[in-house]
Amino acid sequence: MIRILKTPQELQSWRQELSETDRNSVGFVPTMGALHAGHASLIELSKAQNRKTVLSIFVNPTQFNDPKDFANYPITWEKDLALAKSFDVDVIFAPTKDLMYPDGYLYKISESALSKELCGLNRPGHFEGMLTVVMKLFQVVQPTRAYFGEKDFQQLSLIQGMVKAFFLPIQVVPVATLRESDGLAMSSRNVHLSANEREKAPLIYHFLKAGPDALTVRKNLEAQGWNVDYVVDRGNRRFVAVHVGSVRLIDNVEI
Ligand code: PAF
Repeated sequence: MIRILKTPQELQSWRQELSETDRNSVGFVPTMGALHAGHASLIELSKAQNRKTVLSIFVNPTQFNDPKDFANYPITWEKDLALAKSFDVDVIFAPTKDLMYPDGYLYKISESALSKELCGLNRPGHFEGMLTVVMKLFQVVQPTRAYFGEKDFQQLSLIQGMVKAFFLPIQVVPVATLRESDGLAMSSRNVHLSANEREKAPLIYHFLKAGPDALTVRKNLEAQGWNVDYVVDRGNRRFVAVHVGSVRLIDNVEI
């Protein structure tokens, strides 16, 4: 039976009571809820690779630089619960803001290079809030493996860097981006697209793939009337952030 735990202390007690075999095989899928098939693929992999799986659902206020974005973030608790149950997740950790931030966000994790680029340029404070909450979640759950989607590639890289920097005994498992059949990367924010925007949004992926270079991709996106935050080639990947109407979407592909 699925357990819904609200306080870090409850989760820590659950963790301590695990048998020795289970203790060394805890998979963790951190989310902000509004679960979709992309999250399901993370849960599925965690279930396959671990004896226990913890799913966290917490819309982390400190990683939203725009209060409107935070206020509009979709909350679909009943649907999320049904999905978690269908995968036989062991624990849902769903704390409140006060329980996660007993310090009032005085203590933070920051990174001074990659977090200042790409999404960091347009979303000041976002990665600090994200890294801080992931560190807190890691401390509470103490997972053996933690699962993150490659759609948020910059987030994934920063978490990998944090795990290395702080010697955390956690294996970070990257999971390939799941796409709708028309190519649009799955995202909780897609529900905010109007019918017309949803129809055109797969162009992001198609332009990204078609290239031939970042400048051309930017021009193609702008020709749709969209505001482009960036199209950047970094290593063997091309990254994009674009405002489709009022919805900011990100994606990346291997080049
Ligand atoms: O990717 C997300 O949903 C969030 O950034 C995360 C990792 C759950 C931290 O709040």
